[in-house]
Amino acid sequence: MKTRIVLLGPPGAGKGTQAKRIVGEIGVVHLSTGDILRDEVGRSTELGTTARGYMDRGELVPDQLIIDMIRGRIEAAADGFLLDGFPRTVEQAEALEAITPIDIAINISLPREEVVRRLTARRVCRDCGTIANLLFNPPDDPTVCPACGGELIQRDDDRREVIENRYDVYERSTAPLIGFYRERDLIRDFDGSRGSAAISSEILAILSE
Ligand code: AP5
Repeated sequence: MKTRIVLLGPPGAGKGTQAKRIVGEIGVVHLSTGDILRDEVGRSTELGTTARGYMDRGELVPDQLIIDMIRGRIEAAADGFLLDGFPRTVEQAEALEAITPIDIAINISLPREEVVRRLTARRVCRDCGTIANLLFNPPDDPTVCPACGGELIQRDDDRREVIENRYDVYERSTAPLIGFYRERDLIRDFDGSRGSAAISSEILAILSE
C-alpha cells in the first residue's frame, strides 16, 4: 500500500474531492495547504493576514511560509499522508524531498474551460467542508449543506477572473512538477473529466499495488 501520497492538478481538477475519499478509505492524514491557509485566514492569524492577499488574487503564497507551515505536520504523520496542494513549485518539491521520500504523485488533469465551469459552480460547507457543485451534484437547496445542514458558501477565489489567474499560475509554476516527478518515476496520470467515483476507484486500485 502506498501511504505517502502527493496530489497534483490544476485548480478544480478534483483534488479535494478525491482526497476526502482516499483518506476515508485508507486512513492516512489529509494535509491540504489551501484548507490550512483558509483556517489561518478565518482566525486572522499573522500567517492568515499575510496569505490572504495572495489567495484573493489567485497567486501563490511565498514558498518559505508554506514550507514552514507544513513541515511539522508532515513529520508528525508517521503512518502516512496525502498532500493536497503541496508541493506547488519546484522549490517546494525539493523541500519535501529533504523532509521525506514519497511513494506516488497522482496527477489529475483538467482543461481550462472545464475548470472555469466547475469552479464558478462550486459551493463549500462552512461547517463540515463538504464540497458541492450546482452543476454536477446540485443540493436540494443551493445554500444548505446536504451532509450536515450547514451553510454552503462560495470561496472568495472562485470568481471567474481569479480562477483564470489561478490556472495561469498553475501552468507557470506547478505544471513543471509533472516532469519533476516523472523523472523520478513517481507520477501516475488521471483524466479529471471523468466521473469522480470512477477516478477514485482507479486511484485506490493503484495505491493498493
Ligand atoms: P487550494 O485550496 O489548494 O486550491 P486549488 O489547488 O486551486 O484547488 P481547488 O481547491 O480550487 O480545487 P480542487 O482540485 O481541490 O477541486 P475540488 O475537489 O474542490 O489553494 C487555494 C490558494 O491557497 C492558492 O491559490 C494559493 O494562493 C494558496 N496555496 C495553497 N497551497 C499553496 C502552496 N503549496 N503554495 C503556495 N500557495 C498555496 O472540485 C472542484 C469542483 O468540481 C467541486 O465543485 C466538485 O464538486 C466538482 N468535481 C470534482 N470532481 C469532479 C468530477 N470528476 N466531475 C464533476 N465535478 C467534479
